[in-house]
Amino acid sequence: MKFTKVSHLHGEVNIPGDKSISHRAIMFGALAEGTTRVTNFLQGADCLSSIDCFRKMGIQIENNGDTVMVHGKGMHGLTRPNTVLDVGNSGTTMRLMSGILCAMPFDCTVTGDASIQKRPMGRIITPLSLMGADITSVEQNSCAPLKIQGKPLHAIDYISPVASAQVKSSILLAGLYADGITSVTEPFLSRNHSELMLDYFGANVTSVGTTATIAPCEKLVAGDIEVPGDISSAAYFIGAGLITPNSEILIKNVGINPTRDGILRVAKAMGGNVTVLNKRFAGKEETADLLVKTSDLVGTTIEGALIPTLIDEIPLISILACFASGTTVIKDAAELKVKESNRIDTCVNNLKAMGADIEATEDGMIIHGGKPLHGAVIDSHLDHRIAMSFAIAGINAEGETNIMGSECVTISYPTFYEDLKQLGQ
Ligand code: S3P
Repeated sequence: MKFTKVSHLHGEVNIPGDKSISHRAIMFGALAEGTTRVTNFLQGADCLSSIDCFRKMGIQIENNGDTVMVHGKGMHGLTRPNTVLDVGNSGTTMRLMSGILCAMPFDCTVTGDASIQKRPMGRIITPLSLMGADITSVEQNSCAPLKIQGKPLHAIDYISPVASAQVKSSILLAGLYADGITSVTEPFLSRNHSELMLDYFGANVTSVGTTATIAPCEKLVAGDIEVPGDISSAAYFIGAGLITPNSEILIKNVGINPTRDGILRVAKAMGGNVTVLNKRFAGKEETADLLVKTSDLVGTTIEGALIPTLIDEIPLISILACFASGTTVIKDAAELKVKESNRIDTCVNNLKAMGADIEATEDGMIIHGGKPLHGAVIDSHLDHRIAMSFAIAGINAEGETNIMGSECVTISYPTFYEDLKQLGQ
């Protein structure tokens, strides 16, 4: 898809549901007793993969477009799928579901697309095996496909080498079925949607600092879930509003959970004009509207505990940094290398093609801002966040930007291009 410079962005955008929360609503709803009614469910390909996998394990899920009804069958209600479970592009489905499957009284195989088959699964295989799980990589390369044979599980106290909500959640879900109290300690706190939703469904889960603890659980109880808009999707409009001249965008219903709001903190540190309005709670998740106006940005340093709170927003932040004066340093973000693409490489190479002054480092990147970008052919590597970030670059660059594989936005934001376009008219 091709992009050229726009003169302004004006108007309102309603952000589709949060991807992480939508996945969890399906999975935890499947294990609960009763029906979970999920509103503002994200109809992205990743979340549809979660629905598909749990349907294959006997869970009745009605999807009416916006509202999804999950008819839970209790902690032990899943049945053996008679085909391979295919998670598509979804790391969240793969890692969280595996934690559950390790405790089920059946065997199965879980796989996904070419990108998923390159992503590290050793990070869940190691702790789940410590719990007594029988989970192996079919190709013995610590990647999918994974073969899982359910087993009785033991509780562990796991010190995770990575700040990853997918790893933490996988262990906590297995911990629901373990023979004692399970804990996970992370180097920095990752998103806590699992802890909040499991608590809402009646599990005994606590969080202190970077340690989450869960007790074995006899029963989860279904409850209605209103999914807030995804701040990772809102980020493209925050960024677009800040760097596009003459812009004012009202971004409605955005989840601002403090374990996810790093983009707001960075926007502020860069001098961005973002106002948080109408704060309220959707269940246990805080949401708000965001008013964004064109701003003169300055470079900043992003590191440490901030990184997990904006890990998926770093491609977009790398674009903002090109439009800021001064230098932006992103470090402690080696996790970027194992996302849907190697996002250090995909950001740096594509931004170089647009004329940016940017260099890759071992755990991030350094960007010297203020050099105007020009259009280029962008390889999205079928990574939805790369495609969306470079669309925002493209509407602010001289000449034409052509994004290859632009259709991959269906993973997390199927209506992204329409929503962006209506702001420029
Ligand atoms: C997610 C956690 C993050 C994030 C991913 C979704 C989740 O991954 O990048 O898009 O839903 O738990 P890690 O926890 O592996 O960093």
